[in-house]
This record gives sequence, C-alpha cells and structure tokens, in this order.
Amino acid sequence: MSRTTRRIRYGGDYNPEQWPVLVWDEDVRLMQQAHVTTVTVAVFAWAQLEPVPGRYEFGWLDDVLDRMNRGGIRVILATATASPPAWLAHRHPESLPVSIDGVRLAFGSRQQFSPSSTAYRHHAMRLVSELAARYAEHPAIEAWHVGNEYGNHVTRSYDPESEAAFRIWLQNRYGDIDALNAAWGTAFWSQTYQTFAEVGVPSAAPMIRNPTQVLDFDRFSSDALLELYRAEADIIRSHTPDIPITTNFMSFFKDVDYWSWAPHVDVVSDDLYPDPADPRSHVVSAATRDLMRSLGAGKSWLLMEQATSAVNWRPPNVPLTDGRHRLNSLQAVARGADGILHFQWRQSAAGAEKFHSAMLPHAGEDTRIHRGVRALGAELSRLGDLVGADVPARVALCFDWDSWRAVEQDGTPAVVDYLDTVLRFYEGFLRRGVTVDFLHPEADSTAYSLVVAPAAHVLSDDAVCALASVPARGATLVVTYLSGVVDKHLRIRLGGYLGGEGALRSALGVKVEEFAPVADSAPFDVTGDYAGESDFWQELIRVDDAQVVSSFASGFAANSPAITVKRDPGAGAAWYVGTRPSTALMDQLIGAWLADSGVPAAFDHAVAQVETVVRGGQRLIANHSTTAVDLEIGGRRFDLPAYGAIWTEA
Ligand code: GLA
Repeated sequence: MSRTTRRIRYGGDYNPEQWPVLVWDEDVRLMQQAHVTTVTVAVFAWAQLEPVPGRYEFGWLDDVLDRMNRGGIRVILATATASPPAWLAHRHPESLPVSIDGVRLAFGSRQQFSPSSTAYRHHAMRLVSELAARYAEHPAIEAWHVGNEYGNHVTRSYDPESEAAFRIWLQNRYGDIDALNAAWGTAFWSQTYQTFAEVGVPSAAPMIRNPTQVLDFDRFSSDALLELYRAEADIIRSHTPDIPITTNFMSFFKDVDYWSWAPHVDVVSDDLYPDPADPRSHVVSAATRDLMRSLGAGKSWLLMEQATSAVNWRPPNVPLTDGRHRLNSLQAVARGADGILHFQWRQSAAGAEKFHSAMLPHAGEDTRIHRGVRALGAELSRLGDLVGADVPARVALCFDWDSWRAVEQDGTPAVVDYLDTVLRFYEGFLRRGVTVDFLHPEADSTAYSLVVAPAAHVLSDDAVCALASVPARGATLVVTYLSGVVDKHLRIRLGGYLGGEGALRSALGVKVEEFAPVADSAPFDVTGDYAGESDFWQELIRVDDAQVVSSFASGFAANSPAITVKRDPGAGAAWYVGTRPSTALMDQLIGAWLADSGVPAAFDHAVAQVETVVRGGQRLIANHSTTAVDLEIGGRRFDLPAYGAIWTEA
C-alpha cells in the first residue's frame, strides 16, 4: 500500500468514539509500545459523524487522525456505512431488511439495511462523499475500508425494493421472459411466467423452491452488495485515486461470491477467527489464507481482523492459549498477508462485544494478552523483508460459489457439504507441506502442474473446456464425484454426468451413469492399486477409455470402478475419483498425483497438525498440535514445541 514504509502492518480496529478523550493519549502511547503501525478507524461511527441527517460532526475524527499522525500510526479510514444510525430506521423504515419469512428486522444491532434500499444508499453515499472530500489529503491515511463484512448478517433481503431490483437484474441477465422460463425450467410445476412483473423473490414457499430462481437470487444478492461497495469506492476514487481501497472479506463465506468481488478491491483483506477448540481449525485457516492470496491473483493481502484470544459469539468462547495468537498470525504472513490487524485495539466497556478479546484487555497493559501483543508486534516489525513477497504454488484447487450454492440446495442427490469436500483435498496437500492456490474452474490454469476439481457441480461450457485442456497440455487433472452435473442454469448436462457428451468426459475417459450416496455414511472398502476405506458416495461409472485403479468392494456399486486414470501418450494423467476417500486413502492418492505432476512435497509422508509453507525464500514451520514435534524437511531436523513456529531458509 502507498504512503508506508516496508513493515508488516500491525494493529486493529480503533473505536475511540467509545471512550473519553483522556483515554486517547494513552492509546497512542500503548500502540507505540506495542509496535502498532496501523489502525482502522470509524468502522461503526456513522451516528457520531452524522448525528442528524445532513449535520456532520468531523471535529472528533480530525482530532483522532491528527493524534495518530503525530504518533506515527497510519490509518485505514472506514466509511462508517456498516451500521446506519437510528434516524435512518426511524425516517425510512422501508430501509430495514426483510427476512425470508417476511419479518422486517429492527434497529438495535448493526447492518440493518436492505442492500437495495434507495434511502440507505442515498444517505450512505452522501456520508462517503463528505468523508472522502474532507480527508483526501490527510497524511495519516494509507487506505480506505469500505463498509464492513458485506452480507455478514443480512445477505438477502426480501423487501419490495429488493424484489424490484431483482427483476431488473433478471431482465438484464435474460433479456426476455422466455429465456428466463427456459433457464429456470419453469415448465415444471406450472411455474411459467408471462412477464417479469410476475417474478418474485424466492421467499418462504410450501415446498422446494425453483432451484435456479434460488441460485439467481443468491447471485443477485451478492451483486447488490457489490454494487453498494462499488458505488462507495467510485466516490472515494474520485477524491483519492492513489489511496488503495478495500473491504473485509470473511474467509469462505457462501453468501458473497468473492471471485466476482476481488477485481474491485485494490487489496484483498480478510477477517478470520479460527476456533481454538477445533483441532482442525488450522486447516480452514491455512486454506482461507490461500484463498485470499488467490483472490488477488497471488498479490499480498491484509488480515483485517482476528482475535487476540476469545471471541464472544461461540458456545463457549474458549481463549487462545499461549503461542496460538502468534501461530495464527505467522501462518497468515507466511501465506501472503502483509498485515496482521485485529478486532479490536481496546476491549469495549459496554455494548454487544464487551466480552470479545482485544489487543488491550479490560485488565490493562500488564496482562497475558497484552504482553503477547507487544511481543508479536516486535517480532512482526523484524519481518519487513517479506512485504510483497510471493508464495509459490504449483497445485490449483478449483473453488466456485455457484457449485457451493447449487450442490447444497434442497432436492439434490445427498446433503453435501461442499466446503468440507474441497477441504478434504486441501488438507491432503497440507499434510505433505504442498502449497495450493484456489482457482475458479473457468480460469486459466497454465501456471499449475496439478489441477484438482472436487465436486465441481456447476460447470459452464468454458469451465468444461478449461478442465479438459489440463491433461492435453501435459498437466495432471483430478476430477471428483458430483462434477459436471449441471450447467450455469442448473440444467442437467444430459448424456451421462461429467459434462454430458463433452470434452471433459473424453479427457477423463469415463462417464457417470447413476449416483448412489450411502446411507449414514457407513464406511466401505475400495480395492485395487489404491485400496482403503471410503464413505458417503458410490456411483455407477462407465469406463470408455481409462484404467480402473480402484473398485468398490461392496455396496450398491460393488465390483464396479471407483477411481480411474487415463494416461494418453504425450498428455498428463486425468484422474476421476467417484467416492469420498478416507484420510489414509487420500494420502495414497495425493502421493500419486504429486508423482504424476512432478510437484515436490516438503514432507516425504503425510504429517498431521504441522504445516509448512515458503514465502519469499523463507520457510515457516508451524506446529498446531498440543505436543512438541520433531520432524525432517529436506534432510534437516526441526524441533518445535506445542503451538510453536519457526522460520528457516527455504
Ligand atoms: C466481525 C466484525 C467486527 C466484530 C468481530 C467480532 O469480524 O467485523 O466488527 O464484530 O466480528 O468477532
């Protein structure tokens, strides 16, 4: 980001409006002591900035920004539009969102606006114009933070303004009503529309709602929020074209399609609160960091929020034990973050989040948490060489919001957890210390030697071609069950699943005739070259031109193929996995795919609970287990205490 030195940013949300001015001086002193470089100011300060419509009170914010500037602390200035003030709800009750059951949500929490509300938009944009004009030249500002966690609490609103906006979105997408009817398959259940005026939002209904209507409303809702973000960003850009703009993403967040958002942020930023009670939380975190880097096409990103210890929204709110705040932070840096920020600097004395940890706890500076904060600040201040450094990856894992939403809809072959499906593959690579990028299935994958597409349920024609071209150019392709089943409109690709009669089917040399999900996910064996346990999924695979490397030992599909590979001369291997492998079987398969693709692994066998990743020539080795470990990488031995992490030359 501009206007800064080469430092990993360190800091958090700073909400001085919750505190008397006396406290502000102490804040600057303590921030300096803790090596804080950056604070995010005014995220929820709309009511203080505009107490009544059109009357702006910027004096206090001027004071805060000046203090930060004098203290050498840079500011990411928020646009304060995430939590509209009481007067907006009072004067414009129609701006409040409506739930799927038709309930108008009330004022008294936050994010209480319909994404399509004209009143919200009008007042939000007016505030942003004032802020951007006033602070355009302020020397403390190094970035803009638009809104906050778009869609976190209200992604979809079923209010009349949203319905009207949805109709316009549909008209733009389909052009005429016949095209919509064809795409939505409305011949089924007498759902044919004569005009767009008849089309509504998919509110609560008697039974399964039209799948494409539901998916289109998901897409529309993500787009409606993006439009709001872009409207704010455009205003800001007209005042400060050189100051980067971001908004905080939320890890793997199903309701907002970050592939479509990412091109519109100058820096990708993310909020992540790994669950200390979940022994696999480091897997989701590592994957999240990799997703953020991938959304920015490999560019550095910012961890905009994390907790120093417990949150206040889990049952129960387990604290982070010693070492884990550091571990989470270094993981993010090693996977591409150029900044480690938190919610929030000073723990609140009142309000809904007063029990959420912060960098400066209720008990003050002489505390376990704050000592850890100071030590981490000092450590990060020595890692400036990593700013902007690359995180190389040769494996791409396809990830797609359409598939996520579609495969988890009602009325599908099984209750599928898309993210879990993808992360099982991700975790297999993590266990070998292999770095993975995420990739949209339509994207160019030529930078990768191995492309894995788990449950790529929705495939456009472009995506079918992109995947089919992987073995043709000599790289290794892996496709799994539930892939290539429907097109963008969720219409079945006829002629056998796996893209129907298309290029993907011939690239893999198989087609899928019938699904056979397994009741209760009881495990079963697969036998052959790759033998072991599987569960959840069987299917009838018809082999045209591939080698069967594993077969189902029992169950509906007993003695028929479970895993296949096609190896054409001069082409890369094309694997098809028609079942959900256990960890041990997955490890065997990952080994085979790495061998086929020539991608090296840091660990020569699968290692649980330890991760390693290389950034800018430095290797981080991080132990996420409760016990010390001793391991070997590249002929060198390393000892790590429980929750320990070390850097070494790659
Ligand atoms: C989100 C929000 C913050 C705060 C934290 C609490 O990340 O952006 O304002 O509510 O959650 O964990």
